[in-house]
Amino acid sequence: MTNRMLRLGGFFSVPGNHLAGWRHPDAIPTYDMDFQGYAHITQVAEAAKFDCIFFQDTVGVSGSRQLARGERARSKLSRTVKLEPTATLAALAMVTERIGLVATATTTYNEPYNIARRFMSIDHMSEGRAGWNLVTSQIEDESENFGFDQHMAHAERYERAEEFYEVVTGLWDSWEDGGLVRDKESGVYMDRDKVHFLDHVGKHFKVKGPLNITRSPQGWPVIAQAGSSEAGRDLAARTADVVFTAQTKIDEAKAFYADIKQRAANYGRSPDDIKIMPGLTPVLGKTMDDARANYEYLQSLMPDDVALLSLTHISGGLDLTKFPLDGPLPDLPPSNAAKARQALVVKTARDNNMTLRQIARHTAAGTGHRVIVGTAEYMADEMEKWLTEEAADGFNVVCNHYPKPFEDFCTEVVPLLQQRGVFRKEYEGKTLRENLGLKIPENRYTKARLKEAS
Ligand SMILES: Cc1cc2nc3c(=O)[nH]c(=O)nc-3n(C[C@H](O)[C@H](O)[C@H](O)COP(=O)(O)O)c2cc1C
Repeated sequence: MTNRMLRLGGFFSVPGNHLAGWRHPDAIPTYDMDFQGYAHITQVAEAAKFDCIFFQDTVGVSGSRQLARGERARSKLSRTVKLEPTATLAALAMVTERIGLVATATTTYNEPYNIARRFMSIDHMSEGRAGWNLVTSQIEDESENFGFDQHMAHAERYERAEEFYEVVTGLWDSWEDGGLVRDKESGVYMDRDKVHFLDHVGKHFKVKGPLNITRSPQGWPVIAQAGSSEAGRDLAARTADVVFTAQTKIDEAKAFYADIKQRAANYGRSPDDIKIMPGLTPVLGKTMDDARANYEYLQSLMPDDVALLSLTHISGGLDLTKFPLDGPLPDLPPSNAAKARQALVVKTARDNNMTLRQIARHTAAGTGHRVIVGTAEYMADEMEKWLTEEAADGFNVVCNHYPKPFEDFCTEVVPLLQQRGVFRKEYEGKTLRENLGLKIPENRYTKARLKEAS
């Protein structure tokens, strides 16, 4: 038993997280470009009282180099197109009321002023429901859209991300409460003492400020992070409110959970200030056998050459098509893209003695996230177990295709979690911070002023 409540996010991976999910008879593959699909999934999640909806993002087509070289298997690849997420969040703010709206923006191919402004605008438009998933970029293909041949080194990307975070949050504090006076009588529009220049000069950025937008009802957007490498964990522990992660085994998830909470404590934070949410892909069935049959059917839709593509961005540049599919996964050169994901895939293959074909099919099915095959009862049991044993504070539910598996999860699994008292029946508050049980970040200038006065 636990008195902690599960946090649930809907991780909307379009048109489906399984590489062949879009071929399923129930799938609507046009959801990748159809805003009505995004709106429907978000509204279904809101009706089920999810904390948030989350959109991942890449600023490029995954595998575009191979596509340019004419690799035929690429023409079978889904998860290549999507709507720009901050524009999407703004539109979703107009058709929802309570659910948190979270999306990725990379610190590697953006400027902090633009990101600070964009997410704070969504936070105002949604009345305090925005969240920014800060990543340092995964797929190498992005670099060629921004004037580079490859990503800058992993360590440098994180160094830039640290500074990026400082600038964005510094800009978000530009205006103290009461900074806008708008007094018609006196003609005074702003209180000059309550508007602040950041005057940031660092290695990567030089930003004067102030931001031309005030703080929101929740102070700042919620900060999510999804890096699991050493540098990623450290940045998350210091700065994130939410950590998205890929964990497949409870013991490893517990170790990750304990590690992040300990690192957060080392930075003087309370363990409750940071919510850890592994991904979870449900494959439901009326019975366990029925669920397994549903999974096998989905896997039968995926050709081996497509499955192999799921390993491209963790292969460290090695061409895996040159290796026998029934041989072992070869040793991989270090990846400059997603280090933690590479380590996870290699460990899964080695621990389970998998062939290249098997690990490729496994990765293509879950992209590293836990695929949970079973009845609604079984899923609720597992989720409760992970919560109770401190392997997770909640889950980011990502489906193989849309909309049916997500609708089924919301109508079949969520009510069981509610009956067991581990998931809310009503939203606690209006803002995402209120619903996640997070504090409003204090404005740094107000804090300094109060300290000086005391
Ligand atoms: C749930 C989840 C979502 C992620 N979303 C993105 C994303 O939208 N864009 C991206 O480039 N990387 C994404 N990543 C991967 C990494 O977080 C990211 O690229 C990172 O900053 C580098 O990872 P590392 O610290 O694990 O090496 C995601 C990872 C997870 C677990």
